[in-house]
Amino acid sequence: MSDIESVAVVGAGFMGTGIAEAVAVAGMPVVVRDVDDASLGRAGERIDASLARAVRGGKLEASEATAARERIELTTRLESIGEADLVVEAVPEDEQLKLRVMGSIAEVVSDDAVVASNTSSIPIAELAQAIPAPERVLGLHFFSPVPVMMLVEVVVALDTSESTIDRAKQFVHKLGKRPIETKDRSGFIVNMLLVPYLMAAVRMYEEGFASREDIDNGMKLGCGHPMGPLTLCDFIGLDVLYAVCDSLYEEFKRDEYAPPPLMKRMVASGRLGRKSGRGFYDYSS
Ligand code: CAA
Repeated sequence: MSDIESVAVVGAGFMGTGIAEAVAVAGMPVVVRDVDDASLGRAGERIDASLARAVRGGKLEASEATAARERIELTTRLESIGEADLVVEAVPEDEQLKLRVMGSIAEVVSDDAVVASNTSSIPIAELAQAIPAPERVLGLHFFSPVPVMMLVEVVVALDTSESTIDRAKQFVHKLGKRPIETKDRSGFIVNMLLVPYLMAAVRMYEEGFASREDIDNGMKLGCGHPMGPLTLCDFIGLDVLYAVCDSLYEEFKRDEYAPPPLMKRMVASGRLGRKSGRGFYDYSS
């Protein structure tokens, strides 16, 4: 069983760039692949800003940030991911898109590489079918913001082999993060606990029971959470949360997982949270 020493990330969005940054800061080379130069340009800016923040916050020396940035290659070439010991798929939470991306990873990935998905809700068993060796496929579910959050859920699907699990856990330790192991079931451990809590807050707000500020302050000041639940919804992205709710409801058919009507309206009107400038709060300024 070989150690993971090089990584490729497919999808240069917020999660993909966060994962790439964490890998590079841990000293490993990482290729980030996306389909167009504009996405890669934004990815580069996001990584630069995050590394600069880490330096400002005293988490990294400037020279370490520069060295980490040099380990990150941004590319549109699919073939560039073929040398990696681990490929992490981190494209948007759309099952058909993820299946297509897994299919293209299968065309170029090396014979003993581990293939991981950062999905928060799509069954790994389904995604694994796109790869000829499903025993090398598992979920690696990172948390946002990836450079700061210590946790990675290691999601074990029906066909995942012991050696794939071991290699993945060693990799998570190498990132300086902590793995927790979970079975391949919608929501895994964290979202199964987090999402009903967040949706209870959305319903409370939707019913006009309390103001958004009071709901948020209740959990921030009363329970020591770093963000109140509605701020956290905006931070995660309402479209992402809606997809997670849908998948939890589809799996368990329990009311607490059903997305509240307000969420659907907010997603339909483009109020996705921080990333679109507006969610429960306004971020346009
Ligand atoms: N690199 C390294 N460190 C960084 C950093 C970076 N890019 N950005 C921030 N930090 C560090 C700071 O130095 C600081 O460290 P100290 O506490 O040791 O000083 C710490 O992170 C907090 O940063 P700030 O004080 O600058 O920022 P903040 O107070 O606004 O905190 C936050 C920001 C970390 C996001 C905090 O609000 C938080 O923890 N929020 C909750 C996030 C959360 O719950 N994430 C999980 C979402 S669920 C998910 O992702 C899964 C899913 O499937 C939906």
